[in-house]
Amino acid sequence: MWKKEKNLRYFKKISKSLNICGIFINVIGKGKIMVKKIAVLTSGGDAPGMNACVRAVIRACIAHGIEPYVVYDGYKGLCENNIKKVDKKFTQDIINRGGTIILTSRLPEFANVEYQKRAIQNLKDNDIDALIGIGGDGTYKGLLALSKLGYPVIGIPGTIDNDVASTDKTIGFDTALNTICDCVDKIKDTSSSHQRCSIIEVMGRHCGDLAIFAGIAEAAELTITYDHQLNEQVIFDKLKTMHDKEKSHAIVIVSENLMDVNEFAKRVSEHTGFEAKAEILGRLQRGGTPSAEDRILASRFGAAAVELLANDISGRVVGMKKNTIVDLPIEQALNMERDIHKPLIHLIDLLA
Ligand code: F6P
Repeated sequence: MWKKEKNLRYFKKISKSLNICGIFINVIGKGKIMVKKIAVLTSGGDAPGMNACVRAVIRACIAHGIEPYVVYDGYKGLCENNIKKVDKKFTQDIINRGGTIILTSRLPEFANVEYQKRAIQNLKDNDIDALIGIGGDGTYKGLLALSKLGYPVIGIPGTIDNDVASTDKTIGFDTALNTICDCVDKIKDTSSSHQRCSIIEVMGRHCGDLAIFAGIAEAAELTITYDHQLNEQVIFDKLKTMHDKEKSHAIVIVSENLMDVNEFAKRVSEHTGFEAKAEILGRLQRGGTPSAEDRILASRFGAAAVELLANDISGRVVGMKKNTIVDLPIEQALNMERDIHKPLIHLIDLLA
């Protein structure tokens, strides 16, 4: 099911040998095709590294002799025909920029087939042969709809949440994790000075990866996520024991959408001996300069996505499994179960 980089290189070799008089002829799949123009968009929550990925897509297109286009403002811009041709110059100094310079949006209406048809019409009116979408599961759903209507697409996982099952890592996760660690380090300074319990809510939508990884990296006293939920009385008992016998202060990391952390902090103050304060890190987790790891991941994904389309392969998403770039059908990716990081959850308990 997985197609690895090795296979792509093989396809490329065959394709190259059939490149006659500058016309790209591909006999794999449906037959003769010529991908001349590719557009890229970012959609859903922005993530550090999205610009690095846009850069990689544009530059890989140029390397393959394909004209690159960007769609501004995600699916909204696609429906409004906010599409522009770009060149290498567009990619200058963007690899290190946070956010997404081609803008993003959330457009629930894109589930409506009329919007999807309008999007395809706009792409066709611009003579664009294929679309690459960078985002999370919501973005993949939009791409799947376009693919089902016969339009060639490729998805790239970009979200700080790391909640895309078809890849070990999404673009933006590593940077967001480091941002969280930076914030928790700072909160620790004041928390220890005041001998408080700091309850820190991190993002992830319904995925606990940011909390689990941050919990380990920050040696949090407690980490509470979807995959590691604790009964409130158990939490109080543990914190009370810490307060009375072991610790002068405590850090508790909590995934968003699990509880009201402000209310929870009040109850911790009432039941544990600690004065507790809640901190919601919020959208600052999405900002900042992308880490080297995210820039490299984004570059690999962008290049792989273009290579698939150049080889007449579409309707798929790229991902990374065991440090190898892989791809699989969008529908399969959307139906996959996310890995629960059991060894990491075990580590949280072991080192607590
Ligand atoms: O998907 C990224 C994310 O930051 C989630 O962690 C969070 O739940 C959501 O987006 C918030 O989205 P918005 O900024 O649109 O409210």
